[in-house]
Amino acid sequence: MISRRSLLRAGAGSAALAVPLLSPGTARAADLDPATIAKYAVPMPRIPVQRPSRVVDGTAYYAVDMREAEAQILPGARTRVLTYGGAFPGRTFLAARGRRTVVSRLNSLHMPTSVHLHGAHVPPEHDGGPMDLIAPGARRSYTYDNEQTHANLWFHDHAHHHESEHVYRGLSAFYLLTDRTERSLPLPSGEFDVPILLRDARFDTDNQLVYAMDDFLNRNTILVNGRPWPYFRVAARKYRFRILNSTNLRFFTLKLSDGGSFTQIGSDGGLLAEPFETTELRLSAGERADIVVDFARYPVGHSVELINDNGPGPAEHVGKVMRFDVTRTAADDSSVPARLRTLPALPAPTVERTVDLRMDEDGRPHPRAYIDEKLYDHDRVDTEIRYGATELWTVRNVNRLAPHNFHMHLVQFRVMERNGRPVTGGPEGGLKDTVTLLAGETVKLQATFTGHRGTYVYHCHMLDHSAMGMMATMKIV
Ligand code: C2O
Ligand code: CU
Repeated sequence: MISRRSLLRAGAGSAALAVPLLSPGTARAADLDPATIAKYAVPMPRIPVQRPSRVVDGTAYYAVDMREAEAQILPGARTRVLTYGGAFPGRTFLAARGRRTVVSRLNSLHMPTSVHLHGAHVPPEHDGGPMDLIAPGARRSYTYDNEQTHANLWFHDHAHHHESEHVYRGLSAFYLLTDRTERSLPLPSGEFDVPILLRDARFDTDNQLVYAMDDFLNRNTILVNGRPWPYFRVAARKYRFRILNSTNLRFFTLKLSDGGSFTQIGSDGGLLAEPFETTELRLSAGERADIVVDFARYPVGHSVELINDNGPGPAEHVGKVMRFDVTRTAADDSSVPARLRTLPALPAPTVERTVDLRMDEDGRPHPRAYIDEKLYDHDRVDTEIRYGATELWTVRNVNRLAPHNFHMHLVQFRVMERNGRPVTGGPEGGLKDTVTLLAGETVKLQATFTGHRGTYVYHCHMLDHSAMGMMATMKIV
């Protein structure tokens, strides 16, 4: 039985059976106690960049398969994972606005997959939606025209009912789209611009990942760029960190262990209009943020931790993320300008809608999750939208305990209001594609539906919740 308190903190339903995807029929080893994994004992790797197989007339062609592989996650151990191209996490794609990216994907898994580019403005046939599957052994090409402004996008699996396990087992990767606006700024760059992919995991004593649906109480090992609680050696100067919460269910509240401040410069859809000085960064599952941390205030030899001031789970484990060790000085001609970008104008909305998110939270054995009291049905169009329309959506989490978040495909939206208060600037003032909704919260979101017609989904990005039904279809006509 799950205590009310843990339900309150993690907000999900009951435990379900483990699904032994990778080793069917074998009895599972006991859980590995996260206390046996040393903290700050391994370096944080920099995620390698994915190289194109060729570039023709500005179009970059890639070939990346989905396949099982072994990764070194825990020190001295091999863990079976699902990968993009054998890498855990997947290699980072670099893209530039106005230059096309084409990715040929061979599915070498035994399960259907779908590769979604989260946050991308693409036609439906290249969106990687939940029903648009690549069968085992099949190949397909996704084309990304990169017409939108700069943003930290990410690839993840979206195969309906498998996405939760597939993402958990490793199918995620950064896709960093840049443009002239971003490149013109004197922000920290090169080796001082570091993507950080955060996630949690549950291991057994054979060092293998344990997957169970809605398993929010047991994923108590924190992985950063694929390693547990690593350290990262930095120079005493400014760094830009592009952070992705790639977990299925966990919400992070990130802080420096000395309470020191840092500057948030970006969110899901790229840079904020103005930098935001803060001591904490909240990221729900699927959200991204760019921050600049200035280590110049620390002497060489000093260390500061990145901590997570949020549950569920034991704080001595899930409360720790990584450690920065200041090991040298370095020149720094970077800076954070007072104005970062001009956000698109906000046309007056002509359509208003409400969307209610709710899941069963009465402790029943197989809880389900709903949008507007309906389970996801891929044959049903829930919302029809006129091409070109600007709409204002009031999204409510009507649960008493469970947190959710809300993600729309195709568009970057704006958060206009949170709980009745206008949002002007701050961490939610920029372009967003995923927004937090704690129990009882309401947000008003505005989006303009141009560029592409067709059907796309919107859903809770706690992937176990969307797999439990909290997903719906919109059709732009
Ligand atoms: Cu990142 Cu429909 O998902
Ligand atoms: Cu949810």
